[in-house]
Amino acid sequence: MTEIPDFYNDLDSAYAEAWRLLDDGVTNVRAPFHLPAVATIGTDGAPRVRTVVLRQADRAGPWLQFHTDRRASKVAELQADPRIALHFYDRAAKVQLRVRARADVHGMDAVARGAWDQTRAFSRVCYRIDPGPGTPLNVPDGYAEPEPDDPDVGFETFRVVRAHVQEIEWLYLAGQGHRRARFQLSADGYEASWLTP
Ligand SMILES: Cc1cc2nc3c(=O)[nH]c(=O)nc-3n(C[C@H](O)[C@H](O)[C@H](O)COP(=O)(O)O)c2cc1C
Repeated sequence: MTEIPDFYNDLDSAYAEAWRLLDDGVTNVRAPFHLPAVATIGTDGAPRVRTVVLRQADRAGPWLQFHTDRRASKVAELQADPRIALHFYDRAAKVQLRVRARADVHGMDAVARGAWDQTRAFSRVCYRIDPGPGTPLNVPDGYAEPEPDDPDVGFETFRVVRAHVQEIEWLYLAGQGHRRARFQLSADGYEASWLTP
């Protein structure tokens, strides 16, 4: 029989464990939470989903952050409708998180500058790609990734998506009975309730 973790029957512990896994997802590149699936609403109203790298998690905010390119479809989608959802699943931890949030897109501001200063040289290459992401090509390699002397080239197209968390849904799979909970976040903290898994 597997050991019962503290968070199994305790909402506050489950909430803390959710943020612990998110923090670990930022710093541990091998953690499954490092690569969430992020959903937006397409400009045609249909859902869109893709993998991103989780770059920051701030429980106090509360917000989650990833980086992208101004020219990526998701930026126009979020500018038209800031509703965003993030999905995380850690098979070993047996935890799924479904996060609902509203996104702010930061470019050419202090948030973008702070994040850009943290990026490594090889990551900056993506933001110099020409033509921009999603452009149809006549040949598979019909794009260039210039490597200019100025390391700041690419900052103009670099964007930070900060997803202000509104709700976290927790699902913990366990042989002795699954546990599902909803955390509704506000400026005052969160309201938590158990749900039928
Ligand atoms: C492992 C992995 C990590 C990725 N990380 C990012 C990321 O951090 N930001 C990003 O914009 N795209 C990232 N991508 C690419 C996206 O999944 C997607 O293909 C691209 O951003 C275009 O999406 P869009 O047209 O919906 O904007 C990643 C893809 C993979 C497979």
